[in-house]
Amino acid sequence: MHDDIQRVVISERAIKERVAEMAAEIAEVYGRCDAGVTIVTVLAGSLIFLSDLIRLLPIKMRVGLVEVSSYAGRTTESQGVRLEHASLPNLRNRNVLIVDDIIDSGRTLRVVQQGVRSLTPRSIQTAVLLRKAGRAPLDVPVDYVGFDVEDVFVVGYGLDYDGFYRNLRYIATLKPELYHAEA
Ligand code: IMP
Ligand code: MG
Repeated sequence: MHDDIQRVVISERAIKERVAEMAAEIAEVYGRCDAGVTIVTVLAGSLIFLSDLIRLLPIKMRVGLVEVSSYAGRTTESQGVRLEHASLPNLRNRNVLIVDDIIDSGRTLRVVQQGVRSLTPRSIQTAVLLRKAGRAPLDVPVDYVGFDVEDVFVVGYGLDYDGFYRNLRYIATLKPELYHAEA
């Protein structure tokens, strides 16, 4: 597995330090809410980030899961993403924190934010570990960002390529010869 890596983009130590900082910031905000926080996390890329983050949050919380799937369309405009499957506690009047691994075009988080909003929570914030440089659109607000990364495909710490590499403890690029021709 490690032989497939081209370059480490964010080291295990840097991730650990930054996740702890994000947790402190989030704990400060939601520690003031009596009802605690309901975290809505986007499968499967954010699982590693989520599990490290929530173990550093000494506050009352529930965790809900959503999945987002892409569907093909004949044109770029008719292609899209939809909220495919959800296992969610009641979000009505709750303080909701959406957690995802990475925001790239923002399409994924846009449908998650819309879906959560339609369930009339009291508040919504969003945390991502990574934001691809300059890509987050204005209509998809993100409140906590771990790292800004350049516009290259990365794997590790939950992020996959073709389902693999989620278990890497750091974030890295892959050797170019590993990508499928159509990717
Ligand atoms: P968006 O909908 O374009 O913002 O893309 C977000 C989703 O695409 C993320 O939740 C990831 O699952 C996936 N993704 C985007 N960029 C990368 C990457 O560099 N590596 C792995 N997955 C990525
Ligand atoms: Mg994802």
